[in-house]
Amino acid sequence: MRRFENQVAVVTGSGRGLGKAFVERFAKEGAKVVVTDINEEACIVVRDEIIAAGGEAIAIACDVTNRAQVADMMKTIVETYGQIDVLVNNAGITRDASFLKMTDDQFDLVINTNMKSMFICTQEAVKYMFERKYGRVINISSLTGVAGNFGQTNYGAAKAGVIGMTKTWSKEFGKKGVTCNAIAPGFMMTEMTLSMKQEIIDNLIAQIPVGRGGDPKELAGAVAFLASGEAGFINGATLNVNGGTYCS
Ligand SMILES: NC(=O)c1ccc[n+]([C@@H]2O[C@H](COP(=O)([O-])OP(=O)(O)OC[C@H]3O[C@@H](n4cnc5c(N)ncnc54)[C@H](O)[C@@H]3O)[C@@H](O)[C@H]2O)c1
Repeated sequence: MRRFENQVAVVTGSGRGLGKAFVERFAKEGAKVVVTDINEEACIVVRDEIIAAGGEAIAIACDVTNRAQVADMMKTIVETYGQIDVLVNNAGITRDASFLKMTDDQFDLVINTNMKSMFICTQEAVKYMFERKYGRVINISSLTGVAGNFGQTNYGAAKAGVIGMTKTWSKEFGKKGVTCNAIAPGFMMTEMTLSMKQEIIDNLIAQIPVGRGGDPKELAGAVAFLASGEAGFINGATLNVNGGTYCS
């Protein structure tokens, strides 16, 4: 399927992990993709891999918490490709600590990187979508945002906030042809999660009804569906992709 022919898809934090799987999927389905990450080298490697596989891509280094960098990036994308059709707000970090040990810095950094960044990126991108009366915004939340998790006060607050913003934006953007949905992934096998202690990984997998962690490619399938024309009447939803760990 080439559902994104003549479309431009931007995925933040796509230098590795889930974001990388998303840009690869969009490129495979015909999109011109923007690989963007705070890690410039990583963006360039992913861009080159996509081009080598026959896709179209540009790489732009950008810190999603920096308004000026984000505004410049969106402007460059529109100057290069003429439009933005899909924005996947994916960049994120963890700074875990149990409640009494969590510092203000840990709290603020995770809120800024995982939640305020989506406010910044979406504001800077949707103005271009509104002009063309078409767009898809997909916000990557987390199982922690819907179910909570030990040691993740900051991350849980940010990821639940993302769902609140998604619902609000579905109401504000709908009449302008732009839908907004969230995805709440469960345990996915990426660099972020595989850097955890094996004991913790085993423990997490033991709680997943399908008996394994998710493959980033499976999540990419869900992102591509929500970003496609077929999902036009889905707006303000949060899709759980978690192997049945939590059902809401
Ligand atoms: N992996 C999982 O199991 C899982 C589960 C639920 C939700 N998520 C969410 O999915 C998203 C991707 O997670 P992942 O596992 O691929 O993580 P990852 O650490 O492998 O990748 C995250 C990417 O974001 C980039 N990034 C970090 N801060 C940035 C900033 N300020 N500006 C721009 N880029 C920045 C990193 O450089 C990295 O390339 C995150 O929002 C995460 O919270 C992941």
